Amino acid sequence: MTDLAPAPGGVPLAASLADFAALARDVLPPEVYDFVAGGSGTETALAGNRAALDRITVLPRMLRGVHRPRTDASLLGRPHALPVAVAPMAYQRLVHPDGEPALAAAAHAAGVPYVVSTLSSTTVEEIAAAGGPTWFQLYWLRDRAMVRELVDRAHRAGCTALMVTVDVPILGPRLRDVRNGFALPPEVSAANLPGSRDDLAHAGVPGTSAVARHTSAVFAPALTWSDIDWLRGQTDLPLVVKGILDPRDAVLAADAGADAVVVSNHGGRQLDAAPAAVTMLPEVLTAVGDRCEVLVDSGIRGGVDVLRALALGASGVLVGRPLLWALAVAGRAGADAALALLAAELRDALTLAGCADPAEARDLRTITGG
Ligand SMILES: Cc1cc2nc3c(=O)[nH]c(=O)nc-3n(C[C@H](O)[C@H](O)[C@H](O)COP(=O)(O)O)c2cc1C
Repeated sequence: MTDLAPAPGGVPLAASLADFAALARDVLPPEVYDFVAGGSGTETALAGNRAALDRITVLPRMLRGVHRPRTDASLLGRPHALPVAVAPMAYQRLVHPDGEPALAAAAHAAGVPYVVSTLSSTTVEEIAAAGGPTWFQLYWLRDRAMVRELVDRAHRAGCTALMVTVDVPILGPRLRDVRNGFALPPEVSAANLPGSRDDLAHAGVPGTSAVARHTSAVFAPALTWSDIDWLRGQTDLPLVVKGILDPRDAVLAADAGADAVVVSNHGGRQLDAAPAAVTMLPEVLTAVGDRCEVLVDSGIRGGVDVLRALALGASGVLVGRPLLWALAVAGRAGADAALALLAAELRDALTLAGCADPAEARDLRTITGG
């Protein structure tokens, strides 16, 4: 057990956003903890994300009269309280019964966009009903009519951006899930995809991942850039392409009309030999110039990491696991506490770097390995 004492309000005391991982480990069933924490294969890419972030140093500026910096920033042309969005993450009711609506409500209260996963365990309509900035993440289904229908549903529900994830032709081999024979419990399912081989995700078979079997039955493999062209033609919503690492793909995304790309290795959950996302960020930025916004995720664990991403030139970041850990620990209150910590950490980092706001942080110098 962790020796951090509970704080008032039922949220265990966390001194940093990163602290929620240890707290969550204490409350989650081991196989659920593993499903969230795990990467693919030997988890080299997972570890590489952290190692790469830790190697990026930022040169702080002095005597610039910064007292209480602003943290607000524009993402996809709209103002938000932080240069941060909640990453799309499947099946959030696995970690807490209040699931997606609780994390979305916390995001909205904190003034940051919440990205609904195609594989959310609450429908996009219910999540978006909370009213804050909500983006929809699309996994491409085998049935194109269902893709169309999902895009329409997201639009009707009030989502303000569409994020298509392109790094999942198949699910990366999540060996923790294979070893655990991981399957969804009966009360958690893909709420946006009723009847879509739901049985597969719930059928535990030792030595296999039921989630992987479900995904491979439902997701379309072998997509091409012409599919993204088709998608661009289906919606006027801002389009974000998530899962880019090669700068050439970033250019193709811009050519296809993407408004933003997310440089990501899916939190180390797809190709285990992939580089850290932040390692590729500078080349992607150079390749796309000002043709589209560039966000980054994979391994962001606190305000200092947001500063690193900004200093490298990103417009903002997606944060994944730390927010699920916080949801696991104390539901909505945990998510509120985590986002408040992240905002405070970013404010501290900006102050220490001598930046009055996130835009100024993008002018800071970085040294890799310095
Ligand atoms: C439990 C879990 C579920 C995820 N589900 C999705 C998903 O449904 N769609 C998607 O595009 N990415 C998904 N991701 C990837 C995240 O959006 C994000 O790229 C990644 O978690 C960022 O890394 P971080 O967790 O180190 O912050 C998932 C990640 C985790 C940990």
